[in-house]
Amino acid sequence: MIELRGVHKRLGDRQILAGLDLLVPEGLNYVLMGRSGTGKSVTLKHVIGILRPDAGTVIVDDQSVPDLTQRQLAALRRRMGYLFQNGALINWLTVFENVALPLRERRSLPRDEVESRVMEVLGLVGMDHAAAQYPSSISGGMKLRTGLARALVTEPRYVLYDEPNAGLDPIMSEQIHRLIAEVRDRLGVTGLVVTHSRACAFDTGDRIGVLDEGRILAEGTIEEMQESDHEIVRAFLSGGAD
Ligand SMILES: Nc1ncnc2c1ncn2[C@@H]1O[C@H](COP(=O)(O)OP(=O)(O)OP(=O)(O)O)[C@@H](O)[C@H]1O
Ligand SMILES: [Mg+2]
Repeated sequence: MIELRGVHKRLGDRQILAGLDLLVPEGLNYVLMGRSGTGKSVTLKHVIGILRPDAGTVIVDDQSVPDLTQRQLAALRRRMGYLFQNGALINWLTVFENVALPLRERRSLPRDEVESRVMEVLGLVGMDHAAAQYPSSISGGMKLRTGLARALVTEPRYVLYDEPNAGLDPIMSEQIHRLIAEVRDRLGVTGLVVTHSRACAFDTGDRIGVLDEGRILAEGTIEEMQESDHEIVRAFLSGGAD
Protein backbone atom coordinates (compact mmCIF):
# COMPACT_ATOMS: atom_id res chain seq x y z
CA MET A 1 0.00 0.00 0.00
CA ILE A 2 1.15 3.51 -0.83
CA GLU A 3 -0.13 6.27 1.40
CA LEU A 4 0.52 10.00 1.56
CA ARG A 5 -0.92 11.87 4.51
CA GLY A 6 -1.07 15.63 4.83
CA VAL A 7 1.91 16.12 2.52
CA HIS A 8 3.06 19.72 2.08
CA LYS A 9 5.78 20.69 -0.34
CA ARG A 10 7.06 24.07 -1.38
CA LEU A 11 9.31 24.33 -4.43
CA GLY A 12 10.80 27.68 -5.32
CA ASP A 13 8.20 30.23 -4.30
CA ARG A 14 5.20 28.00 -4.95
CA GLN A 15 3.32 25.78 -2.55
CA ILE A 16 2.93 22.72 -4.77
CA LEU A 17 1.42 20.22 -2.36
CA ALA A 18 -0.75 21.56 0.44
CA GLY A 19 -2.02 18.75 2.60
CA LEU A 20 -2.18 15.97 0.03
CA ASP A 21 -3.88 12.78 1.21
CA LEU A 22 -3.65 9.83 -1.14
CA LEU A 23 -4.14 6.11 -0.63
CA VAL A 24 -3.33 3.56 -3.30
CA PRO A 25 -5.01 0.27 -2.36
CA GLU A 26 -3.11 -2.97 -2.87
CA GLY A 27 -3.59 -4.64 -6.25
CA LEU A 28 -5.41 -1.73 -7.92
CA ASN A 29 -4.54 1.06 -10.30
CA TYR A 30 -5.02 4.51 -8.83
CA VAL A 31 -5.15 7.23 -11.46
CA LEU A 32 -4.02 10.68 -10.42
CA MET A 33 -5.31 13.38 -12.76
CA GLY A 34 -4.70 17.09 -12.69
CA ARG A 35 -3.79 20.08 -14.79
CA SER A 36 -0.26 20.60 -15.99
CA GLY A 37 1.96 21.90 -13.20
CA THR A 38 -0.34 20.81 -10.35
CA GLY A 39 2.29 18.53 -8.87
CA LYS A 40 1.56 15.05 -10.21
CA SER A 41 5.17 14.24 -10.99
CA VAL A 42 6.20 15.89 -7.74
CA THR A 43 3.83 13.47 -5.98
CA LEU A 44 5.48 10.47 -7.66
CA LYS A 45 8.90 11.78 -6.63
CA HIS A 46 7.76 11.75 -3.00
CA VAL A 47 6.71 8.11 -3.34
CA ILE A 48 10.16 7.02 -4.53
CA GLY A 49 11.91 9.31 -2.08
CA ILE A 50 13.57 11.71 -4.55
CA LEU A 51 11.72 14.54 -2.80
CA ARG A 52 10.97 14.83 0.92
CA PRO A 53 7.82 16.43 2.26
CA ASP A 54 8.10 19.68 4.26
CA ALA A 55 5.34 18.25 6.43
CA GLY A 56 3.21 15.11 6.41
CA THR A 57 4.07 11.46 5.81
CA VAL A 58 4.72 9.16 2.89
CA ILE A 59 4.28 5.49 3.69
CA VAL A 60 5.02 2.49 1.51
CA ASP A 61 4.71 -1.02 2.92
CA ASP A 62 4.42 0.36 6.45
CA GLN A 63 7.72 2.22 6.09
CA SER A 64 8.05 5.98 6.29
CA VAL A 65 9.86 6.85 3.05
CA PRO A 66 11.48 10.13 4.21
CA ASP A 67 12.97 8.34 7.22
CA LEU A 68 14.65 5.55 5.25
CA THR A 69 18.43 5.28 5.04
CA GLN A 70 20.02 5.26 1.58
CA ARG A 71 20.29 1.51 1.80
CA GLN A 72 16.62 1.04 2.76
CA LEU A 73 15.63 3.46 0.02
CA ALA A 74 17.54 1.40 -2.52
CA ALA A 75 15.70 -1.72 -1.30
CA LEU A 76 12.36 0.10 -1.60
CA ARG A 77 13.15 1.18 -5.15
CA ARG A 78 13.79 -2.44 -6.05
CA ARG A 79 10.16 -3.12 -5.19
CA MET A 80 9.05 -0.24 -7.34
CA GLY A 81 9.11 0.19 -11.10
CA TYR A 82 8.91 3.60 -12.73
CA LEU A 83 7.70 4.17 -16.27
CA PHE A 84 9.05 7.49 -17.45
CA GLN A 85 7.50 9.63 -20.11
CA ASN A 86 8.70 8.40 -23.54
CA GLY A 87 10.21 5.35 -21.88
CA ALA A 88 13.50 7.21 -21.20
CA LEU A 89 15.57 4.61 -23.03
CA ILE A 90 19.32 4.81 -23.51
CA ASN A 91 19.92 5.37 -27.20
CA TRP A 92 23.19 3.49 -27.57
CA LEU A 93 21.81 0.30 -25.99
CA THR A 94 19.54 -2.21 -27.69
CA VAL A 95 16.02 -2.90 -26.46
CA PHE A 96 17.37 -6.03 -24.77
CA GLU A 97 20.21 -4.17 -23.02
CA ASN A 98 17.90 -1.35 -21.91
CA VAL A 99 15.63 -3.87 -20.21
CA ALA A 100 18.55 -5.83 -18.74
CA LEU A 101 20.00 -2.70 -17.16
CA PRO A 102 18.26 -2.84 -13.76
CA LEU A 103 19.30 -6.50 -13.39
CA ARG A 104 22.92 -5.73 -14.25
CA GLU A 105 23.00 -2.78 -11.85
CA ARG A 106 21.53 -4.58 -8.93
CA ARG A 107 23.12 -7.94 -8.56
CA SER A 108 25.22 -10.40 -10.40
CA LEU A 109 22.68 -12.79 -11.85
CA PRO A 110 23.95 -15.56 -14.10
CA ARG A 111 23.91 -14.56 -17.76
CA ASP A 112 21.32 -17.08 -18.85
CA GLU A 113 18.99 -16.00 -16.06
CA VAL A 114 19.28 -12.36 -17.13
CA GLU A 115 18.56 -13.44 -20.68
CA SER A 116 15.50 -15.50 -19.80
CA ARG A 117 14.04 -12.83 -17.51
CA VAL A 118 14.53 -10.08 -20.07
CA MET A 119 13.01 -12.15 -22.87
CA GLU A 120 10.08 -13.13 -20.68
CA VAL A 121 9.22 -9.56 -19.83
CA LEU A 122 9.78 -8.45 -23.44
CA GLY A 123 7.32 -11.18 -24.43
CA LEU A 124 4.80 -9.83 -21.96
CA VAL A 125 4.84 -6.39 -23.63
CA GLY A 126 5.04 -7.83 -27.16
CA MET A 127 8.59 -6.64 -27.81
CA ASP A 128 10.52 -9.91 -27.92
CA HIS A 129 10.77 -9.74 -31.71
CA ALA A 130 12.55 -6.37 -31.46
CA ALA A 131 15.08 -7.23 -28.75
CA ALA A 132 18.08 -6.46 -30.97
CA GLN A 133 16.83 -3.10 -32.21
CA TYR A 134 17.99 0.32 -31.05
CA PRO A 135 15.59 2.97 -29.71
CA SER A 136 16.17 5.20 -32.75
CA SER A 137 14.62 2.58 -35.01
CA ILE A 138 11.43 1.87 -33.07
CA SER A 139 8.15 3.77 -32.70
CA GLY A 140 7.04 5.81 -29.69
CA GLY A 141 4.68 3.05 -28.62
CA MET A 142 7.46 0.46 -28.82
CA LYS A 143 9.72 2.70 -26.75
CA LEU A 144 7.08 2.92 -24.06
CA ARG A 145 6.53 -0.81 -24.09
CA THR A 146 10.28 -1.27 -23.71
CA GLY A 147 10.26 1.21 -20.83
CA LEU A 148 7.46 -0.79 -19.26
CA ALA A 149 9.45 -4.01 -19.67
CA ARG A 150 12.40 -2.33 -17.94
CA ALA A 151 10.12 -1.21 -15.10
CA LEU A 152 8.87 -4.79 -14.69
CA VAL A 153 12.07 -6.78 -15.04
CA THR A 154 12.86 -6.68 -11.33
CA GLU A 155 9.37 -8.02 -10.53
CA PRO A 156 8.22 -4.96 -8.58
CA ARG A 157 5.16 -4.83 -6.37
CA TYR A 158 4.41 -1.30 -7.43
CA VAL A 159 4.73 0.54 -10.69
CA LEU A 160 4.47 4.30 -11.04
CA TYR A 161 3.43 5.43 -14.51
CA ASP A 162 4.10 9.07 -15.42
CA GLU A 163 1.92 10.08 -18.40
CA PRO A 164 2.08 6.66 -20.02
CA ASN A 165 0.38 7.75 -23.25
CA ALA A 166 1.98 11.15 -23.76
CA GLY A 167 2.74 11.70 -27.42
CA LEU A 168 1.13 8.47 -28.60
CA ASP A 169 -1.66 8.13 -31.14
CA PRO A 170 -4.96 6.65 -29.90
CA ILE A 171 -4.15 3.13 -31.12
CA MET A 172 -0.77 2.99 -29.45
CA SER A 173 -2.22 4.60 -26.34
CA GLU A 174 -4.82 1.88 -26.14
CA GLN A 175 -2.14 -0.81 -26.39
CA ILE A 176 -0.23 0.72 -23.50
CA HIS A 177 -3.40 1.09 -21.43
CA ARG A 178 -4.26 -2.55 -22.03
CA LEU A 179 -0.79 -3.54 -20.89
CA ILE A 180 -1.09 -1.45 -17.73
CA ALA A 181 -4.36 -3.21 -16.90
CA GLU A 182 -2.76 -6.57 -17.69
CA VAL A 183 0.20 -5.86 -15.43
CA ARG A 184 -2.29 -5.38 -12.62
CA ASP A 185 -4.38 -8.44 -13.48
CA ARG A 186 -1.66 -10.92 -14.38
CA LEU A 187 1.19 -9.82 -12.13
CA GLY A 188 -0.84 -8.37 -9.27
CA VAL A 189 1.10 -5.12 -9.45
CA THR A 190 -0.27 -2.07 -7.62
CA GLY A 191 -0.17 0.97 -9.90
CA LEU A 192 -0.12 4.72 -9.50
CA VAL A 193 -0.88 6.25 -12.90
CA VAL A 194 -0.44 9.95 -13.55
CA THR A 195 -2.27 11.30 -16.59
CA HIS A 196 -4.29 14.09 -18.19
CA SER A 197 -5.99 11.60 -20.45
CA ARG A 198 -9.55 10.48 -19.96
CA ALA A 199 -8.96 7.39 -22.12
CA CYS A 200 -6.02 6.42 -19.96
CA ALA A 201 -8.06 6.86 -16.78
CA PHE A 202 -10.96 4.83 -18.16
CA ASP A 203 -8.82 2.02 -19.54
CA THR A 204 -6.46 1.57 -16.60
CA GLY A 205 -8.08 3.04 -13.49
CA ASP A 206 -9.90 1.46 -10.58
CA ARG A 207 -9.96 4.65 -8.58
CA ILE A 208 -9.41 8.17 -9.76
CA GLY A 209 -8.27 11.18 -7.81
CA VAL A 210 -8.10 14.72 -9.15
CA LEU A 211 -5.30 16.88 -7.84
CA ASP A 212 -5.94 20.59 -7.60
CA GLU A 213 -4.23 23.30 -5.57
CA GLY A 214 -2.07 20.83 -3.75
CA ARG A 215 -4.70 18.37 -2.60
CA ILE A 216 -7.15 15.80 -3.85
CA LEU A 217 -10.22 17.71 -4.91
CA ALA A 218 -12.33 14.59 -5.43
CA GLU A 219 -11.78 10.86 -5.50
CA GLY A 220 -13.79 7.79 -6.42
CA THR A 221 -14.57 5.17 -9.02
CA ILE A 222 -14.92 6.24 -12.64
CA GLU A 223 -18.71 6.15 -12.33
CA GLU A 224 -18.66 8.25 -9.17
CA MET A 225 -16.30 10.75 -10.68
CA GLN A 226 -18.39 11.17 -13.82
CA GLU A 227 -21.25 12.33 -11.63
CA SER A 228 -19.10 14.79 -9.72
CA ASP A 229 -20.31 18.31 -9.04
CA HIS A 230 -16.83 19.74 -9.42
CA GLU A 231 -16.30 21.46 -12.71
CA ILE A 232 -12.64 20.47 -12.92
CA VAL A 233 -13.46 16.82 -12.32
CA ARG A 234 -16.12 16.87 -15.00
CA ALA A 235 -13.76 18.60 -17.39
CA PHE A 236 -11.36 15.69 -17.00
CA LEU A 237 -13.84 12.85 -17.07
CA SER A 238 -16.79 13.66 -19.24
CA GLY A 239 -17.10 14.84 -22.82
CA GLY A 240 -14.68 17.15 -24.54
CA ALA A 241 -11.33 16.37 -26.07
CA ASP A 242 -9.16 13.69 -24.55
N1 LIG B 1 12.87 20.67 -8.39
C1 LIG B 1 12.00 21.67 -8.58
N2 LIG B 1 12.30 22.94 -8.20
C2 LIG B 1 11.44 23.95 -8.34
N3 LIG B 1 10.21 23.80 -8.87
C3 LIG B 1 9.83 22.57 -9.25
C4 LIG B 1 10.71 21.44 -9.13
N4 LIG B 1 10.06 20.35 -9.59
C5 LIG B 1 8.85 20.78 -9.98
N5 LIG B 1 8.71 22.10 -9.79
C6 LIG B 1 7.49 22.90 -10.05
O1 LIG B 1 6.41 22.27 -9.39
C7 LIG B 1 5.22 22.37 -10.16
C8 LIG B 1 4.62 20.99 -10.32
O2 LIG B 1 5.46 20.23 -11.15
P1 LIG B 1 5.09 18.77 -11.65
O3 LIG B 1 6.21 18.36 -12.53
O4 LIG B 1 4.76 17.89 -10.52
O5 LIG B 1 3.76 19.04 -12.49
P2 LIG B 1 2.83 17.98 -13.19
O6 LIG B 1 1.50 18.01 -12.51
O7 LIG B 1 3.53 16.68 -13.29
O8 LIG B 1 2.65 18.65 -14.63
P3 LIG B 1 2.68 17.98 -16.10
O9 LIG B 1 1.30 17.46 -16.30
O10 LIG B 1 2.96 19.15 -16.99
O11 LIG B 1 3.74 16.93 -16.14
C9 LIG B 1 5.61 23.03 -11.46
O12 LIG B 1 5.26 24.39 -11.36
C10 LIG B 1 7.11 22.88 -11.53
O13 LIG B 1 7.68 23.94 -12.21
MG1 LIG C 1 4.43 15.63 -14.83
